[in-house]
Amino acid sequence: MELGLRENRKTAEIRDAVRETHLHVSDFIYPLFIEEGANIKKEIISMPGIFRYSLDQINDELKEVVDLGIKSVLLFGIPLHKDAEGSESWNDKGVIQEAIRYIKKNFPALQVIADVCFCEYTSHGHCGVLCGHDVDNTLTLVNTRKQVLAQAKAGVDMVAPSGMMDFVVREIRDELDKNGFQHIPIMGYSVKYASAYYGPFRDAADSAPSFGDRRTYQMDSANRLEAIKEAQADVDEGAAILMVKPALAYLDVIREVKNKFNLPLAAYNVSGEYSMIKAAGRNGWIDEERVMMETLLGIKRAGADIIITYFAKDAARVLNGNN
Ligand code: PBG
Ligand code: ZN
Repeated sequence: MELGLRENRKTAEIRDAVRETHLHVSDFIYPLFIEEGANIKKEIISMPGIFRYSLDQINDELKEVVDLGIKSVLLFGIPLHKDAEGSESWNDKGVIQEAIRYIKKNFPALQVIADVCFCEYTSHGHCGVLCGHDVDNTLTLVNTRKQVLAQAKAGVDMVAPSGMMDFVVREIRDELDKNGFQHIPIMGYSVKYASAYYGPFRDAADSAPSFGDRRTYQMDSANRLEAIKEAQADVDEGAAILMVKPALAYLDVIREVKNKFNLPLAAYNVSGEYSMIKAAGRNGWIDEERVMMETLLGIKRAGADIIITYFAKDAARVLNGNN
């Protein structure tokens, strides 16, 4: 009989041997929402299993993350006080600066990545300083320098600007280098689309814009060539890691960026992508665990080296064999 392709699928052993793509716990970055205050552990209704924590409540969560072998967390802060510019974001005693210090002191092995943006800190929920009804790029970059410097002084390991301002990586690189923080790398949100998949996150981070949308700074979903230009800009400006976000509706973009640039690539498996799988799983409509693993594998196979995902703990349990 002729040898067909099914030969290599005959047994679990041969399937294991010829498998091309593997997920590892070390691929994952786990996002955390830290709220200023005390005694807060609030589940996000649209994101089952994901909570907002105040710092005094976060110890068990961090311990679990470390015990599962997850090596990196991405911090989002929710401040008590918001204003037009989001000035709490560069307060040395602000929620994220305190969180960075707390985690580095108590869990020194954990890599702490801080989100750099303003939408959680501004009263209007936009990702920078408003000029009329639009976000002003130049004024926002001035404040971005302050925010990043405060995070660097608090001991952050890596920063990740998510606001989609032009030249943000260049400005941050300059500010860090000028102040003796040459060792802190930048993960650029290089290719970030204006996406409806961010819906649940905006509840989680209390960061929904009070008017309008983010289409004057985030990318149009239809554009692929523009994604290459955005990624090229981050490369030129000194990013250490590139990112495509969201992941699932943009797997073609992940592959293309991976093929074109010699930098590690992250993909952000965003809140809406998580919520959909959780919701269908809870309804008994899909096998949640298998769909989760298939989804993460698909993102990796598309070309992502790093996956930022709310599934990090669930997937780590599966990979560790103790679910
Ligand atoms: C804010 C920010 C958003 C996300 C990460 N940083 C939302 C937005 O741009 O409105 C989305 C993450 C997710 O949906 O999981 N700059
Ligand atoms: Zn933002």
